Amino acid sequence: MKLTVIGSGYVGLTTGACFAEVGHQVVCVDNDERKVQSLLAGRIPIYEPALEPLVRKNVASKRLRFTTSTEEGVDHGEVLFIAVPTPPQPDGSVDLSFIEKVAREISQYLDSYRVVVDKSTVPVKTGERVAQTIRRYAKPGVEFDVVSNPEFLREGSAVEDLMKPDRIVIGGNSDRALAIMQKVYEPFVAPVLVTDINSAELIKHAANSFLALKISYINAVAEICEAAGADVLKVADGIGTDKRIGRAFLDAGLGYGGSCFPKDIAAFIAISEQLGTPFNLLKEVQRINSRQIDRFLDAIREALWVLKEKRIAVWGLSFKPNTDDVRSSVAVSLVERLVAEGANVVAYDPKAMEKAKELAVGRKIQFADSAIDAATGAEALIIATEWPEFAAVDLSELRDKVRTPLIFDGRNIFDPVAVASFGFQYRGIGRGVVAERN
Ligand code: UGA
Repeated sequence: MKLTVIGSGYVGLTTGACFAEVGHQVVCVDNDERKVQSLLAGRIPIYEPALEPLVRKNVASKRLRFTTSTEEGVDHGEVLFIAVPTPPQPDGSVDLSFIEKVAREISQYLDSYRVVVDKSTVPVKTGERVAQTIRRYAKPGVEFDVVSNPEFLREGSAVEDLMKPDRIVIGGNSDRALAIMQKVYEPFVAPVLVTDINSAELIKHAANSFLALKISYINAVAEICEAAGADVLKVADGIGTDKRIGRAFLDAGLGYGGSCFPKDIAAFIAISEQLGTPFNLLKEVQRINSRQIDRFLDAIREALWVLKEKRIAVWGLSFKPNTDDVRSSVAVSLVERLVAEGANVVAYDPKAMEKAKELAVGRKIQFADSAIDAATGAEALIIATEWPEFAAVDLSELRDKVRTPLIFDGRNIFDPVAVASFGFQYRGIGRGVVAERN
């Protein structure tokens, strides 16, 4: 099929590449000329495992091309996917101006029937607005349908999530559009859930909020574990083996970050209030999440007393492993707070240092070439992101390099007993029993 994806960011680019991989003819549109040029040359602006080879392969086989022209995109695709940013506004609601602009642009070039698909994460009822906008600006009588088709890919495993999804959600109010969308997804072996547009839009916000709720739930349990003398990892395993609950997203830590959860939870709260049905549970989810970093800093202050001029090593800057994305990264927030208290931070991240250097705080810290280099001479070591290489570090070498053996493990990557046997004082999240044993 001939498909067009408008917006070549994380979601748009991965979606376009995967559609091309299964045999569709795909045009990706982006208004950033430099980005388009670099994509045409096979350079991907983000670190995402498996994406670059996929893009190169499909550009070479001419199933995937990039353009800055929306007109070319509208002309090419029988289905037009909108995958532009939906950034947060200060009050938590979503800025939908990019979506509205693309809807107007599409309507300008619309000559014959097209399915216009909203793939960006948007509040419920956005599809209705997109349809209204296109109707208002398009030539009289031109036919189109609007569909909501939310994306569930995770950064760091985006290609796999797209190629082998748990489910595909298609929300539409027209049989003609739904039949076309079923055909688009035929090559992907996954259950397809067909709904109305509003339900599809709600599925996305409700799914992300539920996952964030699981994280805050286990983080609240972690705090109780610390007070009571219990181990949150054991508790998470114990409850997670119940199939109705599931072990995934029960890893206690510094809390959730990234470009999706914080924004989507705020947006779901905002839209629920606009609809007159405030979702207060999610406010508690947010409160617990921001408390995690406060509690962690309290523990660091408790151990170090004064942070000013202390050399503190921070392992991990990305918002989670396997990505170079530092947007709304809890690791970065932590570094900012350490710097604000006068600490000398030496950071290391396997992939995210280039992006971190572009941030304001990037000019106020040192960057090391390896985890061990960062820890050399450190008066405390903080693990902020659980990159696999950190857990594999030689603890005996690490003990020799640090100045004082204090580990604050914000992602519970170490076995407390093992690190203690090398002479470290250890503080994880929700590991009350072990703290006592030490
Ligand atoms: C999330 C969802 O998982 C995707 O399904 C969704 O498509 C995407 O948002 C989106 O809306 O576009 P992502 O933000 O890439 O994906 O990353 P996650 O793996 O969900 O992690 C989010 C945050 O939660 C990270 O900061 C991670 O460290 C944290 N987390 C995750 C925990 O603290 N504990 C856990 O048990 C799991």
